[in-house]
Amino acid sequence: MADTKKLFIKTYGCQMNVYDSERMAEALGVEAMGEAGYEQVSSPDKADMILLNTCHIREKAAEKVYSELGRLKGLKAKNPDLKIGVTGCVAQAEGEEIVRRQPAVDLVVGPQSYHRLPAMEAKVRSGDRALDTDFPQEDKFDHLKSRPKAKRGPTAFLTVQEGCDKFCAFCVVPYTRGAEVSRPVDRIIGEARDLVERGVREITLLGQNVNAYHGLDDAGDEASLADLIWKLNAVDGLERIRFTTSHPNDMDDALIEAHGTCEKLMPYLHLPVQAGSDRILKTMNRKHTAEDYIRLIERIRAARPDILISGDFIVGFPEESDQDFADTMALIEEVKYGQAFSFKYSTRPGTPAAEKPQIDPDVASDRLYRLQALLTQQQRDIQDAMVGHEVGVLFEKTGRLEGQLIGKSDHLHAVHVLAPSDMIGEIGRVKIVASEANSLKGELICD
Ligand code: 5AD
Ligand code: SF4
Repeated sequence: MADTKKLFIKTYGCQMNVYDSERMAEALGVEAMGEAGYEQVSSPDKADMILLNTCHIREKAAEKVYSELGRLKGLKAKNPDLKIGVTGCVAQAEGEEIVRRQPAVDLVVGPQSYHRLPAMEAKVRSGDRALDTDFPQEDKFDHLKSRPKAKRGPTAFLTVQEGCDKFCAFCVVPYTRGAEVSRPVDRIIGEARDLVERGVREITLLGQNVNAYHGLDDAGDEASLADLIWKLNAVDGLERIRFTTSHPNDMDDALIEAHGTCEKLMPYLHLPVQAGSDRILKTMNRKHTAEDYIRLIERIRAARPDILISGDFIVGFPEESDQDFADTMALIEEVKYGQAFSFKYSTRPGTPAAEKPQIDPDVASDRLYRLQALLTQQQRDIQDAMVGHEVGVLFEKTGRLEGQLIGKSDHLHAVHVLAPSDMIGEIGRVKIVASEANSLKGELICD
């Protein structure tokens, strides 16, 4: 038998890409393709197939792909059998243009067509190029079955919804990932059960607009994200449920209530607002005001007072004035974020905001600096306030120090604790004793 071929996947961007990369590795794996299959390796040097699973959300993310391709093409001289593929949102957005810019690329496939990877692999092996950026109607995940027996770590992502119909004026997602599509409830529950059997204790439900989820249940009725969460709450062995990422306008009453009543749903919510100025929110096409968002956070906190709120912000959006920026800072002061992701606006060709007059990049950099300083301070304050509290920690792996385990608290803080390694995969009760730069230090509570 010939040596098993080697697959290297590099993943850029969001958690949905992490999930997709796992599915691609399975689709090309030995169990799926027999002798033609690949084993995954952690370095590109010896690989026979390199896939870059790419992100197109900001210009920098897309440009990184071309620099990486420039470095990787040299490996073809050493291994003439090496094939290079580009997957993900750059593949979807740029298609054939990728091959024009970098002829060393053999395969280009968009996020909706990963189930066609085995056929595309065969095509590139026979010396052709393969390109697929369709939006097929079928559910790609139906064709991308997980290997049932492989053991897994305690946490996993599970994509339940893809695409977005919101068309925020800055965002490429509605173009690269297409219209909103929700997977049926029974497929998701089946996949969740399978993950639990393989050792998973915490599942993060993923979707570009996950709280707009509206998949069909067994009876053919539409289920909301809250309905889905309650069904998952009943899965034995699953201990924790999270979801990301959400749009404020899709936070319905049932979902807010679930944060107060559903015991496995963790007290953490990523709810991007992007900006705090109504004028900017309007040109961003967000379809809510700053006040709507603040009132919504109040309702969520009434249901679950200790919930940790996380957000996304864009500074330097076209026409953002000093006053608009001050409004964003004021919103942040009011909400108090436990975690946040913030970006300088990046022009994305084809989106409505790209047509508008852009603001001075130095002004945008200065605003980003000030905004991040405020957010960092808030995160630190919320983290520091955990000292002295007891929290649940799901242990995920060993730490840098002897005898140390690392895990995540209910509020998604990284916590390190001295604990026996057989506690990996378990939720321990931990007392927080110190707050450090990006993590908390805890002590195991033994009764
Ligand atoms: N420029 C900067 N940030 C962007 N995001 C999306 N599009 C852009 C863009 N063109 C940010 C938003 C979104 C997150 C995933 O990325 O904050 O919530
Ligand atoms: Fe992009 Fe999110 Fe807006 Fe959809 S809701 S267009 S994914 S920023």
